[in-house]
Amino acid sequence: MSVPRPAAVIVLAAGEGTRMKSQTPKVLHELCGRALVDHMLAAARDLDPEQLIVVIGHALERVGGHLAATSPDARAVVQREQRGTGHAVRTVLEEVGEISGTVLVTYGDVPLLRTQTLAELLERHETDGNAVTVLTAHVPDPTGYGRIIRDESGAVLEIVEEKDASPEQRAIKEMNSGIYAFDGSLLADAVKRVSSDNAQGEEYLTDVLAILRGDGHRVGACVAGDFVEVEGVNDRVQLAFARKVLNQRLLEKHMRAGVTIVDPGSTWIDVGVRIAPDAVIHPGTQLHGDTVIETGAEVGPATTLTDTRVGEGATVRNAVCDSAEIGPEANVGPYAYLRPGTVLGRKSKAGTFVEMKNTKVGERSKVPHLSYAGDATIGDDVNIGAAVVFVNYDGVDKHRSTVRDGAFVGCDSMILAPVTVGDGAYTAAGSVIDSDVPPGAIGVARARQRNIEKWVLRRRAGTKSAAAAERALAEQEQQESGT
Ligand code: UD1
Ligand code: CA
Repeated sequence: MSVPRPAAVIVLAAGEGTRMKSQTPKVLHELCGRALVDHMLAAARDLDPEQLIVVIGHALERVGGHLAATSPDARAVVQREQRGTGHAVRTVLEEVGEISGTVLVTYGDVPLLRTQTLAELLERHETDGNAVTVLTAHVPDPTGYGRIIRDESGAVLEIVEEKDASPEQRAIKEMNSGIYAFDGSLLADAVKRVSSDNAQGEEYLTDVLAILRGDGHRVGACVAGDFVEVEGVNDRVQLAFARKVLNQRLLEKHMRAGVTIVDPGSTWIDVGVRIAPDAVIHPGTQLHGDTVIETGAEVGPATTLTDTRVGEGATVRNAVCDSAEIGPEANVGPYAYLRPGTVLGRKSKAGTFVEMKNTKVGERSKVPHLSYAGDATIGDDVNIGAAVVFVNYDGVDKHRSTVRDGAFVGCDSMILAPVTVGDGAYTAAGSVIDSDVPPGAIGVARARQRNIEKWVLRRRAGTKSAAAAERALAEQEQQESGT
């Protein structure tokens, strides 16, 4: 696709977005792993504009801070008072100077708009040699939008805002998306001539069309194939709708690239996630951030991964993993929680009701049941028994423990950091290991058992336990006297 490169893309994002009813500025609301405004910026960036400009105003500090951190290539222009879309563009041109070439104007709250559609708008603008080309759409319910007024020949005359429209004009179903391609020099002149003499007392960018037409310039329209793309997000119902549409697009992209998604209806994938062909994603799975899933891996059901890498052929079931690295053919869950800094080696296991944090597990090592491993380094071919706790926190500081290759940690061992269990060493079940175990030794750290005979018969007389004990003892006595 050879698309004329725009001189600038101006993203209007200074408005308040009151209908979100939120402490968070509208354009910073998240969907599919990105803020609303960042979806527009990503689509704009794909057009390779010479300048990328965002108009900000409401919640200046937060929106400005976000843009500085995530879009250093974008220039933020501050519009102190939101006096209309025309005023927003005028503010930009006053600050950055006249822009010669094509200027694309769009909004920060249209996350479904695809680069392809913007490219079509630019192409139409160029091919027809227009002074301005507006992106329009036919919508079932145009309430609230500006209407496209055409003459009998179909030529665009002007845009009339709903509040300024006559009943006949309101019946028109072709709406103004608010997205336009302008000739930059003509825009600079026309936007100064926009008045605020209208129902809302605002400087309407839409008036630029009639102004340019009045000057004898060509004014055109490009009708979007899918109106859903140009619908903005104004409240949380629309936000949820946009998220669903965007998610569906992402799912389809992955499926067409060879990923099996068992239940698209219950699977959520962020834009930054990468999945190799022949991975399988089971129902109820959410993949966030920069998660990477290698080929042959199976993820889900009911799994949430954030910034996590899942190696080739690994299995992750009913798990929550955050910034973890799961090695090839490793096995996680069901019911595991892997926190930041967890690194699982090839063919290792973090099993059922296992939590790990800042812990490295070597190749083929297993932590199968009911354990917590925090700040631990576990070597290769290690077996960690059930209910082992790496006691990493003394109430003030965190300490690391090391379990070396081939070691066997008995069930219910407490590994009291900092401590090392040597190569091939064992710990006895139920031990509290607070000093190093040398290679090949067994660490036994538990009280000896003593049995008090017939205690139950004396102290729990009349209970079911006492009755059972009596029967067993009587039988034992009989057997002994019989032989
Ligand atoms: C605008 C259009 C309308 C179109 C609709 C599509 C005008 C006069 N009307 O109406 O024809 O159908 O968009 O959604 O342009 N903004 C600023 N600074 C301002 C005012 C707005 O940055 O001073 C930004 C807002 O943050 C928003 C966008 O521009 O992202 C649109 O503003 P909004 O007030 O929602 O315009 P509408 O009345 O919806
Ligand atoms: Ca709007």
